[in-house]
Amino acid sequence: MHSSLVRVQSVFSFFTTVTFCVAAFIALSTVLSPTNPTATVDVRKFRVIKGRAHQYYASKVQEYAFINFDLDADLGSLFNWNTKQVFTYISASYPGSKFSENEAVIWDAILPHRSASRLHLKNERAKYNINDITGKFSDRENITLSLYWNVQPHVGVLTWGSVGLSEAFTLPPLEGKEKVSAKN
Ligand SMILES: *[C@@H]1O[C@H](CO)[C@@H](O)[C@H](O)[C@H]1NC(C)=O
Repeated sequence: MHSSLVRVQSVFSFFTTVTFCVAAFIALSTVLSPTNPTATVDVRKFRVIKGRAHQYYASKVQEYAFINFDLDADLGSLFNWNTKQVFTYISASYPGSKFSENEAVIWDAILPHRSASRLHLKNERAKYNINDITGKFSDRENITLSLYWNVQPHVGVLTWGSVGLSEAFTLPPLEGKEKVSAKN
């Protein structure tokens, strides 16, 4: 009786140790394996229009930036046998008066397999029309777009990075008096 309990315990402890070591090995091997994601992001069109946040009748009218962009990216090297999926997004960064660094996501995608890791988007409309905390966006200077990636592994820690900083651009003046329902 006593010896079989000890045996169960030692078998259990053996499997726990093995599982831990395998998981640690997987995590370490994939963190250390080199990745080389590449991307170019270019701004194609942009305009600033007054609008309200979608579906909120009572929301404040603000200036929204509508951006079209080109993206060429190859995130294939982020996929290895421990990659569950890759989350990728394009973010606009710009200096501001209230905060010196501002970031707003304009597009995102989940890449479930390596086969989805090459992205060629031409004149793609931003998924999210962005607005600034001050409510004003026209004539905003030094906006850049960049592609960010975030690898979700089966075992181990998340890794992330960015690649493909665009050239800086300045938003144009406010267009007309048109009011739109902005998606954001
Ligand atoms: C934008 O960049 C230019 C050149 O680097 C700089 O002179 C200017 O002050 C910047 N504008 C803002 C609002 O940061």
